[in-house]
Amino acid sequence: MTAQPSLRTAAALSDAQIVTDVRHYTDRLFAFRCTRPRSLRFRSGEFVMIGLPGEDGRPILRAYSIASPAWDDELEFYSIKVPDGPLTSRLQHIRPGDELILRPKAVGTLVHDALRPGRRLWLFATGTGFAPFASLLRDPETWERFEEVVVTHTCRQVAELAYGREIVESLPGDPLIGDLVAGKLRYYPTTTREPSDRMGRITTLIESGEIFRDLGLPPLDPAADRAMVCGSLAFNLDLKALLESAGLREGANSDPAEFVIEKAFVGDGI
Ligand code: FAD
Ligand code: A2P
Repeated sequence: MTAQPSLRTAAALSDAQIVTDVRHYTDRLFAFRCTRPRSLRFRSGEFVMIGLPGEDGRPILRAYSIASPAWDDELEFYSIKVPDGPLTSRLQHIRPGDELILRPKAVGTLVHDALRPGRRLWLFATGTGFAPFASLLRDPETWERFEEVVVTHTCRQVAELAYGREIVESLPGDPLIGDLVAGKLRYYPTTTREPSDRMGRITTLIESGEIFRDLGLPPLDPAADRAMVCGSLAFNLDLKALLESAGLREGANSDPAEFVIEKAFVGDGI
């Protein structure tokens, strides 16, 4: 059985791409790859609209961060499975060879252009908020711009860290960027609802100073530190407050500054 009611409908909508690979991580998380339209240009960290044709033939489209870097011939996405979600209740069943709709226009704020030059880049993610960082971490520009890159990823369960861990662990041996990454990468995964080596919300670990002690780093400093944040609205707001209290200012494409933020999803009622 295929995930789409009508492949012909998807093709007729143009913007149709072919799924090339699907990996399931947990009953709530999976990643997939698909062909990349020649017309799609994007900066690592941006998002596009992707989807499937609905029962009535009209597309069901949702925002998705591109998890692959800008140089990759294919596109990768990292996705939640919402049991009754209009898109992901079906998207979770895609298989190689299936068609996806992809609007080839990328936008977003988690891009290098929105940050002023700095010494150290902090990437703060919860859940699927890791997706844009999976793109940025595999982009040579990230490693050329910064002397150090600290990746934090917080999830409820250990198994939910697996996709991010795979990406991070692949970097030192990556033929394109392995040499650039050497000595610059710090990885700080935490869980909140299952025991692991390091537990706690990243906001709590920043407030207590524990993360800086663990990593042997000084507190956040607007002269040296730059940050990108991607998680739920509540997470983003809490982290934004912490960054601002350390003196960092929010940047934008048109006005680069010390940190940038993007929601990993739009929550219920928001
Ligand atoms: P929806 O009706 O869209 O969502 C139903 C409910 O599920 C939401 O109200 C929310 O409570 C919850 N939910 C939705 N998405 C998530 C999520 N990612 N994590 C936890 N809970 C969620 N989703 C991804 O899986 N990967 C991405 O890379 C991604 N990038 C996004 C980038 C942006 C800028 C935005 C705004 C959203 C992004 N999303 C991403 C969310 C995505 O657009 C959809 O909401 C998601 O795929 C679920 O679609 P749905 O139609 O099944 O359910
Ligand atoms: P917690 O388990 O304490 O809620 P979710 O699956 O709800 O999107 O959460 C993903 C991860 O982000 C969880 O580990 C969760 O911790 C953490 N988290 C959720 N909201 C916040 C917040 N406002 N500040 C810091 N961490 C948060």
